Amino acid sequence: QMIPQEGRFLLSNKVSVVTAGCTPEVQAIADSLIAQIQLTSGISLKTSSQENPEQPDIRFVTEEGMPKEGYKLSIAPNEITLSASHPNGFFYGVQTMYQLLPPAIYGKATVKRANWSLPAVEVEDAPRFPYRGLMLDVCRHFSTTDYIYKFIDMLAMHKMNTFHLTDDQGWRIEIKKYPKLHEVGSKRKETLIDYYFVNWPQIFDGKEHGGYYTQEEIKDIVAYAASKYITVIPEIEMPGHAIAALASYPELSCRPDTTYEVTGTWGVFEEVFCPKEETFQFLEGVLDEVMELFPSSYIHIGGDECPKDAWMKCAHCQGLIKKLGLKDDTTPNAIDGKKHTKEEKLQSYFITRMEKYLNSKGRNIIGWDEILEGGLAPNATVMSWRGVEGGITAAKAGHDAIMTPSPYAYLDQYQEEPETAPTTIGGYQTLKKTYSYNPVPDDADELVKKHIIGVQGNIWNEYMQSDERRDYQAFPRAVALAETGWTQNNRKNWNSFRSRMVEDFERMDAMNVKACRNFFDVNINTHVYDGTLKAVLETFYPDAEIRYTTDGSAPTAKSELYTQPFTWEGYIDLQAAAFKNGKMLGKVNGKKLY
Ligand code: ACM
Ligand code: ZN
Repeated sequence: QMIPQEGRFLLSNKVSVVTAGCTPEVQAIADSLIAQIQLTSGISLKTSSQENPEQPDIRFVTEEGMPKEGYKLSIAPNEITLSASHPNGFFYGVQTMYQLLPPAIYGKATVKRANWSLPAVEVEDAPRFPYRGLMLDVCRHFSTTDYIYKFIDMLAMHKMNTFHLTDDQGWRIEIKKYPKLHEVGSKRKETLIDYYFVNWPQIFDGKEHGGYYTQEEIKDIVAYAASKYITVIPEIEMPGHAIAALASYPELSCRPDTTYEVTGTWGVFEEVFCPKEETFQFLEGVLDEVMELFPSSYIHIGGDECPKDAWMKCAHCQGLIKKLGLKDDTTPNAIDGKKHTKEEKLQSYFITRMEKYLNSKGRNIIGWDEILEGGLAPNATVMSWRGVEGGITAAKAGHDAIMTPSPYAYLDQYQEEPETAPTTIGGYQTLKKTYSYNPVPDDADELVKKHIIGVQGNIWNEYMQSDERRDYQAFPRAVALAETGWTQNNRKNWNSFRSRMVEDFERMDAMNVKACRNFFDVNINTHVYDGTLKAVLETFYPDAEIRYTTDGSAPTAKSELYTQPFTWEGYIDLQAAAFKNGKMLGKVNGKKLY
């Protein structure tokens, strides 16, 4: 709830930040507010353990009984009061204060003669979901630690609390017990640079690609994230997506005499971990070190896209299936209503065994929705990616679920005209489409309402060779998912969101984030209305005019104004742009229509 009030609170060297009775964690949050204001505006707030009735104050007040991540922010012309029960709430209250200040607060440079104030307002706020995350795939392309830090800043400013790191096509975490993982598994010879199927043979860049994080680097990342109330969840993929591990230790596969290479192409590979004692010992050894590095209550064990071909041909696997008495289902399974093969049940055995190990160390597993196949491990949380069905099925069975459905939450897909945008894996999800996603429909079962604990955007890095490309794919759509994670669905509003996004782009500029700027352009689509094909033009920028030409010339502020979908005759070369106050906002987009 937000109720605007009269007046503004002026920041100046006279303002004291009062943290009487606060914990060291809350003091650190207050200190970071003071430091950020000092850095970006040059204004020096004082710290004080006492209120001074003569002077304006920013008070941090601990109040019992509020939700863990909730806060109240009361801004009056002479006083700001931020109340919360937990440090998390104080942290988010400070993020809201930043949002009420000029976007330069997000930068690193000092604004000269800053005259900064916050509007008077009463805010009472808490998130819809406890899990609000982004996944960054640092395996298909490696990201530097600098980028990881910037990415964590982006999560924090948008009040997300979970950062999930993956996965395959490169091993990225130093494991001291198994050094070949980073020595061998972190590198590949070359990388596919065009669409998977468009050229055959496929075209590669011919450049070695690799990288891994040392344990010291991981500790620093985890600590930095924690200082921003973000948990880092590691994913150690099993039994599939294991090529980097098998390239390092081929004896863990079903064909120990084979050698494997970390692939330069994407997708799913037949060779997977063989469920033998040696493999379980290896994975336990890896996870022991992973648990030392990542204090998260969750460890993600992957579980997706594991073909069963190798297990079907492997004497050990078939022997184990017999020994365990696993059989192909003849009737549909109670949880998901599907019939599962004995090899799918072997995967369930694999995951359940690893779950037992992690549970014994006080951790819980998350797996992609394929872990439903062949029976769900008893305490597993399911991450639903093949649409929403897996998450709903898991929730109905009383398991927690996190919604990361393709296409809405797959931020590796196109978000502007695929014909002219940089190459991605495929798909086309605009900012508006991503924003439209509601993880729990109003009419969902009570169990579904209870067990869907959050939402996450996934940034798979197949085609993101640079930080700029990662920024471009992730933002602004990740912001739409952040709002979906925080805001009750009946409070979400596309028009409100897009009007607030104008300033968020300025914040992202201040943070040097190269977000996709399709928001400032016009999307040209065609749709059939009442049997007639029409051109439909749309801009996401609020209250903008769309101007267009049909002769291939660049539109100006005086070109034809678009008001509604229209038909055309013959061939037109449609060119369109968004304008506000006579100025073009973004770039010209064109499409030839026949
Ligand atoms: C996935 O996209 N395979 C989780
Ligand atoms: Zn095997």
